[in-house]
Amino acid sequence: MAKNNNHKKPTATVVFIFGGSGDLNQRKLTPALYNLFIDEFMPDNFAIIGTGRTDYSDEKFRGHLLQGIKEFSRRKDDKNATWESFQQHISYLRMDADKPEDYNGIAKIIEDREKAWGEHPNVLFYLAVAPQLVPDIATNLKKLKLCKDKNNTRIVVEKPFGHDLQSAKELNSLLTGLFEENQIYRIDHYLGKETVQNILALRFANALFEPIWNCNYIDHVQITAAETVGVEDRGGYYEQAGALRDMVQNHILQVLCMIAMEAPVSFEANEIRNKKSDVLNAIRKINKHEVQKYAVRGQYGSGWMQGKKEKAYREEKGVNPESSTDTFAAVKFYIDNWRWQGVPFYVRTGKHLMEKTTLITIQFKEAPKYAFPTEASETWRANRLTISIQPEMDIRLRFQAKRPGQTMSLNPVDMVFSYNDNYDEPQPEAYETLLLDAMMGNATQFMRGDQVEIAWEVVAPILETWESRPPVDFPNYAPGSWGPEDAEALIARDGRTWVTLPPKKDRKES
Ligand code: BG6
Repeated sequence: MAKNNNHKKPTATVVFIFGGSGDLNQRKLTPALYNLFIDEFMPDNFAIIGTGRTDYSDEKFRGHLLQGIKEFSRRKDDKNATWESFQQHISYLRMDADKPEDYNGIAKIIEDREKAWGEHPNVLFYLAVAPQLVPDIATNLKKLKLCKDKNNTRIVVEKPFGHDLQSAKELNSLLTGLFEENQIYRIDHYLGKETVQNILALRFANALFEPIWNCNYIDHVQITAAETVGVEDRGGYYEQAGALRDMVQNHILQVLCMIAMEAPVSFEANEIRNKKSDVLNAIRKINKHEVQKYAVRGQYGSGWMQGKKEKAYREEKGVNPESSTDTFAAVKFYIDNWRWQGVPFYVRTGKHLMEKTTLITIQFKEAPKYAFPTEASETWRANRLTISIQPEMDIRLRFQAKRPGQTMSLNPVDMVFSYNDNYDEPQPEAYETLLLDAMMGNATQFMRGDQVEIAWEVVAPILETWESRPPVDFPNYAPGSWGPEDAEALIARDGRTWVTLPPKKDRKES
């Protein structure tokens, strides 16, 4: 068990999970809270209340959550004794989110807790619900007296945050009309990933990288977020989303901000968020007439993947058989500021691709070869820093080395830092980090309203163009491939190629 030696615990907290009986709570939220409990990050006084319309007794609800822990938690082998004491903090409140009178139950629970604990608790309302329910719930919550407590009452809103710029603006204006910005936690789980957080350490805790982290030395940047799964049972949601909305507008642009932002002067929430907003603001808006030049969409057809026959997207449950929804998106962005002038950022994401991998590549410019004999430079490669976010968690720096022998012959080698080889402690899941931050009132790794809106502005020309011009070639990639051919062309036109990790068997020593 990892001991909590240097971390403050939140003070007494009540967490309400709207959508308590849903998937997100069973797979992610309760397992995360349970791991925080095991690692001694939960306060002495805390309560977790699931709310929803399903009729659960406390006991049945706890059983449902335990099932989730057994199936989905990173720790499956914990002693029953830990669960026994954890579950006493969990209860269920049956309520109709659209009935204002049902919210009295919430007020009552908080009053009771306050009396029993003798202290005023933090209250976290976690909205793990369909986006259309958010406005009603937020409006009803606001009527509770406790929501006026700006310092201790917070609302966590899951993605998707809006469907486009207009709806995101409306949602922001509704939420900021009800709560202060510092009470609103817009979650993007990528920001809680250990390897994503490490980007700040890599860039700003080392003197090595920052001086060359700019357009003078960097040729281009790539971000790949590839998944092997298809849309699974989320066809209904995905039809309204597509890859660009589901992954690029949020996760990928947030990661891009971490790579491209200026050095912060502190880790204070608004300082970090200002620096990220600067990046988003500097991303060149793609002209609608040029979308084809900068963006590629794809949709998977049917085919064989790892020995299994996979359905085409259009055959998935909840999907229109003539759907134009993108299950793959690749975009070339430019950031118009001094640091990044002229450096393309290529990003791509998709379902049913060859490998599950999230990978960032910083490709440096080539060093001049003049001093070396021609044959020495046959395998000349530019330096490259590859940051694997998942499932591998490593950073590899590629540089040229001399092959042993009497001739000057070079070849590229990797210097590898791997989390697993360096640390024994297990990595916390993103939701553990983010829930703890939300309980502590630290919004650094959450998105501010303006960031979400600018991110929508960035993708808007692509979304609008795609919507107005239905694709003629869908489905255009096979499951198990790296997406449509046009995505290769997008980068090949610039004389570059997408980077993947070396084959698994060669990874350590490549
Ligand atoms: C979610 C998307 O936000 O992120 C999913 O809605 C996607 O479609 C998921 O599968 C990917 O998250 P991760 O952590 O598995 O990379």
